[in-house]
Amino acid sequence: MSAKSIYTGNNLKGEITVPGDKSISHRSVMFGSIALGTTRITNFLKGADCLSTIKCFQRMGIEITEEKDCILVYGKGLRGLSAPSCTLDVGNSGTTTRLLSGILAGQNFSSAMSGDESLNSRPMGRVMTPLNKMGARIQSINNNNCAPLKVEPGDLHGIHYQSPVASAQVKSAVLLAGLYANGETSVDEPALSRNHTELMLRSFGADISSTLQENGTATARVHPCKELYGQTIQVPGDISSAAYFIAAGLLVPGSELLIKNVGTNPTRAGILNVCRAMGADIAYLNERNAGGEPTADILARYSPLHGVTIEGSLIPTLIDEIPIIAVMAACAAGTTIIKDAAELKVKETNRIYTVTENLRAMGADVTPTDDGMIIEGGKPLKGARIKSYLDHRIAMAFAIAGLTSEGETIIENSQCVDVSYPEFFNTLEQL
Ligand code: S3P
Repeated sequence: MSAKSIYTGNNLKGEITVPGDKSISHRSVMFGSIALGTTRITNFLKGADCLSTIKCFQRMGIEITEEKDCILVYGKGLRGLSAPSCTLDVGNSGTTTRLLSGILAGQNFSSAMSGDESLNSRPMGRVMTPLNKMGARIQSINNNNCAPLKVEPGDLHGIHYQSPVASAQVKSAVLLAGLYANGETSVDEPALSRNHTELMLRSFGADISSTLQENGTATARVHPCKELYGQTIQVPGDISSAAYFIAAGLLVPGSELLIKNVGTNPTRAGILNVCRAMGADIAYLNERNAGGEPTADILARYSPLHGVTIEGSLIPTLIDEIPIIAVMAACAAGTTIIKDAAELKVKETNRIYTVTENLRAMGADVTPTDDGMIIEGGKPLKGARIKSYLDHRIAMAFAIAGLTSEGETIIENSQCVDVSYPEFFNTLEQL
């Protein structure tokens, strides 16, 4: 298994681009597959998770090809998928599994999905419950609410679902099934989660809307649809990948990094609010709209940071960035409190545990809590042997921690970054 050594960095300067957004890349292939006509996708993320999505749809008869600078999906319409001849391999990808559950629930054939050890231990009851309420027949083969999942054909009806969690994967699964249901389907969530499904499905022709209430809760609504129509999608750079280089720019003395073409959808950009609240010198340049998604270049300059409290409706807008935010907090002066983030426990790893273990290995003062962690920042970090636990975001967050630590840091099983950012270590080396 691969390991990477990281040493103390000095002034990182220059311009980089980061790969395409993972959430948007998944959705562009999924929606393109169930739309009529061709969907052309530029800047598609060729990370392992999104390749799992492509393979699943190819197994259901969809032709997906690669041209010089784009992916072409030859969609066959809402009811054009064909029965897969084997279990669909969803790899490490929660997004593939949960969104695909919503699509498979509406098909007139049986199917099954299974993934790797981490994926097969993540909770799927959160999508099975609402989908089965809609009339779907999804079963956990081992009766543990986890994949492998078996999906049998069922007649779907619209429901009004109150999701107990702010999860875009749950919301999207229900909305996608809603395309196949009779009657309106709506999903309430306790705080607005990323809204790429709502934005992109609308551009494919779905009758979908969303509202944000004053108390921070949100509702998305969809009506059954005759057909979706193929689109051209320009995928913006992934803010979740940019986050590592934003942090590197802020933490390594003398740095100034420009990260070009990053998606800045407010449902994803919570990390930038947190950085600013910590005292970061960050600017958006060249703000524009790329195919319905706000996009900008982000300039991050070295800044002394201080601790903050991160909680409430901000959490879903930065949930994947908490490992790197925790690293920044360890380097910041004072206390950072992260709360309302129990969802961290059901990501690719239990990130409350994996972040705490690794920060402690580097000498930081961290107390895990039931829904987050408390970090007493400002102690100098020491290089350490870091366990990635095969979690891409842990590997990348601690590679950046290694740049700000004294001595050598070794990231074990570093190849797991392939899930979302295969070029991560190359870009880091170039800088
Ligand atoms: C994602 C939603 C989030 C996020 C995941 C991608 C998506 O998960 O953590 O990496 O593309 O919808 P939850 O919906 O479970 O919060």
